[in-house]
Amino acid sequence: MIDVKFKGCKMDKIVIHGGNKLRGEVVISGSKNSALPILFATLLTDESITINNVPSLDDINTTLSFLNFIGKKAVKRGNTVEIYSSENGMYKYIAPYDLVRKMRASILVMGPLLVRLKKVNVSLPGGCAIGARPIDIHLEAFKKLGAEILVEGGYVKTFVKYRLKGTTINLRFPSVGATENVLLTAVLVKGRTIIVNAACEPEIEDLAIVLNKMGAKVTGAGTKNIIIEGVDKLHGFRHEVIPDRIEAATYIIAAAITKGEIVLKEVIPQHLKSINDKLRKSGLYIKESGNKIYVKWIKNLKPQNIKTGVYPGFPTDVQAQWMTLMCLINGKSSVKENVFENRFLHVAELRRFGANISVDGRIVNIKGVEKFSGAPVIVSDLRAGAALVLAGLAACGTTTISRIYHLDRGYEVFEKKLKELGANIRRICD
Ligand code: EPZ
Repeated sequence: MIDVKFKGCKMDKIVIHGGNKLRGEVVISGSKNSALPILFATLLTDESITINNVPSLDDINTTLSFLNFIGKKAVKRGNTVEIYSSENGMYKYIAPYDLVRKMRASILVMGPLLVRLKKVNVSLPGGCAIGARPIDIHLEAFKKLGAEILVEGGYVKTFVKYRLKGTTINLRFPSVGATENVLLTAVLVKGRTIIVNAACEPEIEDLAIVLNKMGAKVTGAGTKNIIIEGVDKLHGFRHEVIPDRIEAATYIIAAAITKGEIVLKEVIPQHLKSINDKLRKSGLYIKESGNKIYVKWIKNLKPQNIKTGVYPGFPTDVQAQWMTLMCLINGKSSVKENVFENRFLHVAELRRFGANISVDGRIVNIKGVEKFSGAPVIVSDLRAGAALVLAGLAACGTTTISRIYHLDRGYEVFEKKLKELGANIRRICD
């Protein structure tokens, strides 16, 4: 079955002695949330593929193991993934529970296998730390394209009784994953498919670039309306994954919270506009030049309220990191989480550092405190974990962070990059 290997062991911890200002340069890795749908897109062809700038993360390893389980031959050397044509072009059509439970993005297998094998069985994802995360929008879209859906035994069995046909699909919410799943299906469906109210994230644009390299006909990616003209066959491709805007935002906030001065390299500044606009308003010095961003703490920052939203709004994946910064800024601020219904699990852990935070439904009210004191804390999910690392970097004394396997899913060599920026941080295997 799927062997999901964690880089370290499950009991690994991170220990931070806080107070160091971050200084120096950090190279931003390829985007996890772009690389994942692109890896699933490789199921749309049997030809060879090369993908560069793929980050070394547990979610990537999980996906590569899954592709090999289905019938691909996927190999990763450094940050390059080579996918060879499968021996017999035969693929399994199932995504088992132990995989979907670990990585929700594995539901992106539905589109490619539905359109190529005419059937796919995917375990229901179940909830996760940041909310129920149903897949109703995905299933509605597949039904509109002509698929039959059967839910039994904890699996969603999707199959084509007659044929799939291009159509207009109105997403009730601009779901990133649902937009990606429709794209991964419609490119090989006869006729024209229009996605209305599509997600506009940069990762959608990167996926559309890959699909068009494969011979698809996708226009409008990055806007609310995407048009796909179905084709009969798709080919291999070579592609370089875009930089990870969420990783970049995390390092920018790390510089701010430690009153440091860093340069981020290999980023796309435009992708960080909503975050950098807020940070500049708060008083952080940020200068963009080409694919670099220079960040310097020059004075005490002022509190700023944020509301998360779909791109180009303030990203929900930066909400926890932002909240941590606001906890250490004198004055009051608030955070409204509009995308997920339960993405405040980091609040209880931040209080252990001494944060003064109150939760009122989807709104968190913050009263800045003078300082944090280091504490033992536990990671609940990927971005909450990043927030706890930032808190530890700023805290006086020692912070011990457990369940850091969540971090290994989304931050490439996180503690190594932070140590090179001057943080007193190390990983211990318990
Ligand atoms: C993607 O998740 C990202 N993951 C998430 O990043 C990110 O937080 C999210 O988009 C929002 O930007 C990847 O790209 C692998 P959604 P996804 O479908 O596609 C609800 C990280 O930290 N919804 O846009 O799952 C859902 O419950 C991760 O890197 C339905 O109700 O997000 C949520 O409240 C975390 N029904 C909202 O929509 C559906 O069928 C947004 O979900 C689908 C979604």
